[in-house]
Amino acid sequence: QRPILRRFSCPGTVAEDFRREEQPSGSVETGSEDKTPKKTFSEVQKERREQAQRTVLIHCPNKINEKKFLKYLSQHGPINNHFFYDSFGLYAVVEFGQKESIDSLQNGTHTPSMGMEAAIPFRSRFFNLKLKSPSHQTSEQPCVRSSNQLPPSSKKLFELLCYAESIDDQLNILLREFQLTEENTKLRYLTCSLVEDIAAACFPDCTVRPFGSSVNTFGKLGCDLDMFLDLDEIGKLSTHKTLGNFLMEFQVKNVPSERVATQKILSVIGECLDHLGPGCVGVQKILNARCPLVRFSHQASGFQCDLTTNNRFALKSSELLYIYGTLDFRVRALAFSIRCWARAHSLTSSIPGAWITNFALTTMVIFFLQRRSPPILPTLDFLKTLADAEDKCIIEGNNCTFTHDLNRIKPSGNTETLELLLREFFEYFGNFAFNKNSINIRQGREQNKPDSSPLHIQNPFETSLNISKNVSQSQLQKFVDLARESAWILQQEDVDRPSPSSNQPWGLAAFLLPSVVNKTSLAKKKVKKPASERIKNLLESIKSNTTENCTSTNGK
Ligand code: GTP
Ligand code: MG
Repeated sequence: QRPILRRFSCPGTVAEDFRREEQPSGSVETGSEDKTPKKTFSEVQKERREQAQRTVLIHCPNKINEKKFLKYLSQHGPINNHFFYDSFGLYAVVEFGQKESIDSLQNGTHTPSMGMEAAIPFRSRFFNLKLKSPSHQTSEQPCVRSSNQLPPSSKKLFELLCYAESIDDQLNILLREFQLTEENTKLRYLTCSLVEDIAAACFPDCTVRPFGSSVNTFGKLGCDLDMFLDLDEIGKLSTHKTLGNFLMEFQVKNVPSERVATQKILSVIGECLDHLGPGCVGVQKILNARCPLVRFSHQASGFQCDLTTNNRFALKSSELLYIYGTLDFRVRALAFSIRCWARAHSLTSSIPGAWITNFALTTMVIFFLQRRSPPILPTLDFLKTLADAEDKCIIEGNNCTFTHDLNRIKPSGNTETLELLLREFFEYFGNFAFNKNSINIRQGREQNKPDSSPLHIQNPFETSLNISKNVSQSQLQKFVDLARESAWILQQEDVDRPSPSSNQPWGLAAFLLPSVVNKTSLAKKKVKKPASERIKNLLESIKSNTTENCTSTNGK
């Protein structure tokens, strides 16, 4: 008998206890009790951004006395919080209570002389701490606790999943192990803030905001850091002096189009990152892409960064996903497992190509949850009806209005378990009429495909566009085949589930982890119950499908 606490299906009672118990406090931006008012996306962004501006990054000696370190730094002002992490060396992230402390710290810091080389004297918030007399450093120094910034290894995940008590439990474990931690989120905002300091060399009042999975609640440890250089705020700061019959404008350089302006700005920022930015390496300017960007590695944080500008839609879609991810506890758990599943079977890749993206997969999960009865998620059109004047948002002529206030959205009455939803997701998309229907989260129902792309997922804001235009027929077929196979495996779980204490792969472990997939190959599996017509059909489709070679579940 498994404890009932783990097998929740009813939000509001046992489920709430479960959430309080299982979710690390840092990951819950919105409060875990339904009565707690949930923060809006912009409230979270503003708070985190402000925190990051009071924060510094310090490369430390490997052995450091934490107490002395904090005492030394607090001569510049009170410290709100700090943590250490390892990334080819020991780093500390230190958040001061006041911004003035940063000036004080910078004023007491010198630019090193480099011997044969010369230093670019850029005064950033990224420091190097050295010991005056390393010999005084004894081996008995207490080791600092280092916060983990990496996803779990396949081995650890395998063990955790095998020992889980139910499939619901497995989905929650996956979420807990892969979701961005409080520290990782802080490091992401800090990295944006450090890049903002560099971009400010050209545009003093610019803002660099994270978007995409770093902030939309669907980020996995190890995912890239998407950044948006926001220059629009600059104009808003100026108060128009309207006295007299004059209007003052800046003299500017004119270029033929917005796109060219974007390319020029990113090109200059790319140069600044390359030449001034401490720790910014491998800077690549990808300016001819549909959405021009600068890609680079931020060495100290280990983040692969993509910097774009003039990309308001992406920021808006991050906010929409944040709303969906925060509305119901099942959304993220399901999306994480589908994304891990897709990665384990090479349906997604960190290299751009004809495969499905994580963004497209998340949209499919949202659509599926809109199609449940009763729906677990509202449609985008419904969110629009809840909007007020403040929410009104038109981007390039497209209406992107929806409520930003989560507290206006009534919780769903649907009580389906994650196990059921996972199985049904695979069945639903294993049998979806991709040849004639398009996925549409604005209306929450399928529509006729407007063109012949194999997979059509309507862009919720630029509705004439398809967010999965890149997906080839063969990649879609692979997705369908694997979805059918996984639905079948999950159906068998009812019969085949081993006892919880045995180290046997089952449930998610049976189709998530590379080493296990071969063992559960359907061709070898003994069918214990009489197959219904539907299962027979599934088997037929699976027989023609070769077992995938699986890669790591880590990373994107
Ligand atoms: P990861 O794979 O974890 O990085 O997920 P992600 O959501 O961050 O995806 P990615 O880094 O590829 O893109 C960042 C953001 O850009 C997404 O969250 C979307 O908001 C947006 N985006 C990405 N691809 C598309 C697309 O094809 N169409 C549109 N409209 N937006 C996209
Ligand atoms: Mg991303």
